[in-house]
Amino acid sequence: MLRHLLNPMDLSVEETADLLALAGKMEANPSEYAHICDGKKLATLFYEPSTRTRLSFEAAMLNMGGSVLGFSSADSSSASKGESVADTIRVISSYADICAMRHPKEGAPLVAATHSLIPVINAGDGGHQHPTQTLTDLSTIYHLKGRLDSLTIGLCGDLKFGRTVHSLMTAMSRYANVRFVLISPPELKIPSYVRESVLERNNIPYTEVVSLEQALPQLDILYMTRVQRERFFNEEEYIRMKDSYILDRAKMALAPEDMFVLHPLPRVNEISVEVDSDPRAAYFRQARYGVYVRMALIATLLEVKVC
Ligand code: CP
Repeated sequence: MLRHLLNPMDLSVEETADLLALAGKMEANPSEYAHICDGKKLATLFYEPSTRTRLSFEAAMLNMGGSVLGFSSADSSSASKGESVADTIRVISSYADICAMRHPKEGAPLVAATHSLIPVINAGDGGHQHPTQTLTDLSTIYHLKGRLDSLTIGLCGDLKFGRTVHSLMTAMSRYANVRFVLISPPELKIPSYVRESVLERNNIPYTEVVSLEQALPQLDILYMTRVQRERFFNEEEYIRMKDSYILDRAKMALAPEDMFVLHPLPRVNEISVEVDSDPRAAYFRQARYGVYVRMALIATLLEVKVC
């Protein structure tokens, strides 16, 4: 059966657990999986810039013996001549076995999935969702804390446009005793559709605060995010917002010893480089886990036989 991953909810809790377990096995014994995708091709269709997502997808496929093809910007594809996503995916369906698509417009991967003959993975659509970042985040949290339930998670920065935040909240809403502390300036608060469809519908406890210092002592995980210049219509507004939060060594002194800092990256100023040497800084480890969850996802969607 043709399956896509457009939203973290496309995978059940059990499927997500299986996928994280497979990612763990792939990390532990990479040579056992080095040929499971021999002869398969992954297309990376990136209409928006990326370092981690595109390259970790490509590394994932190469690690399993497959091949990769694709484009890294709309400018270098026929989108620049006006080709639609629907037409592009019809064509790519005869060139590749699976594709990962990033697009600035919310819903573009859904449109692609509607017209596709191969599995479509949403690699980030505008300010909407980023489900493979979420799998990466879940894997990281599980590695660090040994559980996905009974956690207080602080989400800090651009909660309005931050697709990684929206996807992570959506996925975490299915685990017991999870509580969110939403840390943002009033202008970048979580959108009402996420508040209603994720928090209120599932009776998830949450608080909204402006002060990072106030939130830090109560957190198990701090998820920092970048204020995204590319989502603002007004440069002045971006400049006013961009340094709303800067996590530094002094602020880390307010956090519990067993709190970990995650960030989907790229970072700009929101985490000072002096925090990188703190053992609680987990964002570079997080980026590494992204390769294994994408290996597990590709193998699962391609229905490759794995042990
Ligand atoms: N986390 C993430 O999506 O990074 P890139 O934009 O570099 O892919």
